[in-house]
Amino acid sequence: MIDTTGNELPDDKDGERRLRLDVEGGGIGVLTLCRPEKLNAWSWESSRQLGLLADRIRFDDTIRVVLLRAEGRAFCAGIDIKAPGGAITGRTGSERTRNYYEGIRWVHERFRAFAGLPQPVVAAVQGYCLGVGFELALMADVRIAADDAVFALPEARLGVAVDAGGDLRIAREAGAGWAKFLALTGRRIDAGAAHRLNLVQQVTGAGELDDAARIVAAEIAANAPLATQSIKRDIDAFADAGLGAALDRVAMSAALTLTSEDIREGYTAKAERRAPRFEGK
Ligand code: COA
Repeated sequence: MIDTTGNELPDDKDGERRLRLDVEGGGIGVLTLCRPEKLNAWSWESSRQLGLLADRIRFDDTIRVVLLRAEGRAFCAGIDIKAPGGAITGRTGSERTRNYYEGIRWVHERFRAFAGLPQPVVAAVQGYCLGVGFELALMADVRIAADDAVFALPEARLGVAVDAGGDLRIAREAGAGWAKFLALTGRRIDAGAAHRLNLVQQVTGAGELDDAARIVAAEIAANAPLATQSIKRDIDAFADAGLGAALDRVAMSAALTLTSEDIREGYTAKAERRAPRFEGK
């Protein structure tokens, strides 16, 4: 079973830490994905830790802006495809679907705590930014990408729906046609293409990413917090209208596909490095 009730963050040293929060001078809270050896692959546990840290950030008035970044050569290579299977079980297909639905709704609640933070969030993206990694970056308010960044929503290639609203947020930023093009094909795009599609606001050289993102974060942090938080809230009220209801549908679509035979085929084919044979069941 997944841990949905724990409210402790594991010690940094025991290898279970997925995210780290460092509150720096100048009002910047640096939230770092810290599992670089696995390209920051994301798991249920990552969502749990994100929710706990978002709750901390929300009420910390020394944090005026959040810088979301990742250690290593990749921002995040998507869902942890090697995490032990069977995290969610059920005696029948119906019960498994119901249990996945609740599980994904629980994950969405953690993501909502992060995406709905009062403080603005600047994301700094390098290397692979795939699947849920891309979805997480899209939850930030502003994205800065290194020129080596690679973005994709490969979920449909693995047999699963896009499960955290990344396609909806691409539709918001780039239009529904591009959201469908990217999510239906699973194609990768580079930082330049992401910039042209309005999915990132700035592209920098790989060695300059951290500085560039910090400059933007510091500019926001220097402004009046009540004003910056009001601006974020107002724009989100407009730009995210309809998002909550759509995310509930996303949770059901995720549950439907996560319990399908196609997803098993998709993961097996990926592990065996062959093309999947999907049958729509
Ligand atoms: N889940 C779990 N582990 C992952 C991972 C993922 N999504 N992505 C990468 N890793 C691990 C690799 O297993 C490897 O670990 P190891 O050294 O213990 O074997 C390490 O991260 C480095 O990855 P590697 O594959 O050696 O790097 P690469 O540069 O050759 O390839 C990718 C990078 C991203 C193209 C490749 O790792 C990949 O295809 N990952 C899966 C992406 C995916 O399908 N995500 C799901 C989206 S829905």
